[in-house]
Amino acid sequence: MRLFVASVFVFLSANAFGGSWMIADEPAPMVRFTVDSQLDSIMGVSRSIAGTAEVDPAQWASGTARVAVDLTSFETGLMLRDEDLRDQFFETDKFARAVLTVKGFERPSAPALAAGKEVESDAVGSLSIHGVERPIRIPVKVRLADAGGRSVIAIHGGFTVAFADYGIKRPVRLFLKLGDTAKVDFSATLVPIPSLLPQTTVTAPSPAPLAPPAVATPKRRRVGVVIAVARRRAKAPPPPVGSGPQRRGEGLFHDPTIGGEGNALTCASCHGITDERQGLTGAEGLAHPNPSLWNGARRKTYWQGLARTPGEASSICTQLFMLRPKRLDDAYQADLAAYLSSLGSDPSPEMDYRVLALTRSSSLPNPLSGNPEHGLVLLNRWCWGCHHDNSARPPLTPGLYEAEYIVQRVRWLGGTDARQMPPITVDRLPDSELRDIVTYLAGEKSQPIFKRRRR
Ligand code: HEC
Ligand code: HEC
Repeated sequence: MRLFVASVFVFLSANAFGGSWMIADEPAPMVRFTVDSQLDSIMGVSRSIAGTAEVDPAQWASGTARVAVDLTSFETGLMLRDEDLRDQFFETDKFARAVLTVKGFERPSAPALAAGKEVESDAVGSLSIHGVERPIRIPVKVRLADAGGRSVIAIHGGFTVAFADYGIKRPVRLFLKLGDTAKVDFSATLVPIPSLLPQTTVTAPSPAPLAPPAVATPKRRRVGVVIAVARRRAKAPPPPVGSGPQRRGEGLFHDPTIGGEGNALTCASCHGITDERQGLTGAEGLAHPNPSLWNGARRKTYWQGLARTPGEASSICTQLFMLRPKRLDDAYQADLAAYLSSLGSDPSPEMDYRVLALTRSSSLPNPLSGNPEHGLVLLNRWCWGCHHDNSARPPLTPGLYEAEYIVQRVRWLGGTDARQMPPITVDRLPDSELRDIVTYLAGEKSQPIFKRRRR
């Protein structure tokens, strides 16, 4: 299963060059391990790798990175063996991920990365598997390249892991006759975290609000929506009373200026702060697209292990959704963390990102067979927060969008052009409700939509 952060970047094409990078979906990253013996050898492969890096090509040795591999995703070619690998070897119910933290690159063969030239170095840092974190040194080869007008960094390398070092027992069925070390090799391509300023977005001739076309031809619809970028700054609420980190954090939570230029969203556009066991719809009849942060800063790790603190998690959000080209400064992170930690009081388990992966891979059957009246109600509940006259986007007008396009956007299906609009997962907005919304929105103005049912 594809991890989420890795896949974000397929459709965020970058023009501006920055120091922050993420593992791209295409070409797909790969980790492979081989365990040898005289008689046999087993190979397992995974492509579920997510990660971020801070690398300045001019002085790449000081770069850092953090990469997580979903250990449930290794395939060895035999289902029973895959099960053993998960359940007995990695014990993925307890330790679902391997996390590699790179603190720097030693002995670089050249101080700067130059396009087209491969350079070598030792990545040094730590590797955590099976609940054990140990220092590690990995010889890597790195090449900066130009791919269709943007810079990418290709990296590959390999190392050896001794099972005993990580307290891993060898399951009999799996490794009886095999050695006690694994050879690991990997490859990945890093793409810059884009700064999606309207003026640098290739497809955006003008960030002007969409005017409904007089005659909505399918072609026109498509063009109209592809150029969409968030256009207005949300109004920041009055500064919170008092001072101190928690208060400042609360202010930041509602402040669009912690995002990059052109950002109109705040944390509060996407995340509520209520206990959602009481219901997803809040006082104003609005539901937030993404999970509430009630007890949300009380997890062991965040973002599938990519973030260790609520501040780091917030930083990922500002880069992914708020057009911030670089990570969030430590002071902001600390203030946000102080505020988030004040919400709720109970420890909570790590979020299950498989829901997001499922959301991103499920299409909506019969998208136009919903109930449009109910669709309007749901539109006001789920979409109005960002799509109304004084918000990030103008109101959504029925008749302007093709059904598949709306589904693709809300679910972040492959090829979506979403930039700031977040995915809304199937457990929050179920298919039946999305179908009603789509049926309402796909309707044509000329037709009395509320009297119509489409098949
Ligand atoms: C455009 C919507 C959006 C914005 C804006 C946004 N986030 Fe997020 N945030 C998400 C999504 C999507 C996730 C991934 C979880 C999911 O919905 O599946 C997430 C995850 C998180 C998590 C980690 C959840 C976990 O435990 O793994 C935290 C903490 C968080 N956001 C805090 C913030 C803060 C603080 C801000 C403001 C600085 C912010 N977010 C801005 C959409 C957003
Ligand atoms: C957290 C804010 C947010 C929420 C909630 C949200 N959207 Fe969006 N939406 C955006 C932004 C911002 C854009 C502009 C493009 C981009 O940055 O992804 C957008 C763009 C769109 C577009 C393209 C046309 C346009 O106006 O730009 C459609 C269609 C759309 N959203 C549908 C929906 C639907 C349907 C829902 C509710 C199920 C919804 N959105 C909820 C933020 C949001």
